[in-house]
Amino acid sequence: EAGDAANGEKVFRKCKACHDVGEDAKAKVGPPLNGVIGRPAAAYEDFAYSDAMKTAAADGLVWSPETIAELLEKPKDFVPGTKMTFAGLRKEEERADVIAYLATFADE
Ligand code: HEM
Repeated sequence: EAGDAANGEKVFRKCKACHDVGEDAKAKVGPPLNGVIGRPAAAYEDFAYSDAMKTAAADGLVWSPETIAELLEKPKDFVPGTKMTFAGLRKEEERADVIAYLATFADE
């Protein structure tokens, strides 16, 4: 079911230390997330992804609402060796809401 983008903006506070999204988004600890839905993993140029994320991409990982939800549930379980050192979002609703928020940002 679709998440609530307005609440997702609040959930995104947990991501902001590492990720920019929106106009003038830049790489920080993590890559910017404009247009991430529908994009292959590890595809933002000039970001030094982990070998684990590059391998997942080579194995065909593409970011969809479903795969992002799996990443966010427990990053280290979904992509063992990822350098996204984030415990995850335990609540399914928070995952759906932040994904709905990300869906409002097209690639720039
Ligand atoms: C990667 C989302 C929190 C650091 C990613 C990717 C997504 C994502 C979709 C894959 C990007 C790609 O392949 O281009 C989120 C969301 C968060 C969150 C929605 C909050 C709920 C964080 C936090 C940190 C972080 C708090 C830092 C402590 C990273 C890093 C990568 C990454 C370093 C690259 C991983 C690698 O190369 O293994 N994130 N993230 N993220 N994120 Fe996050």
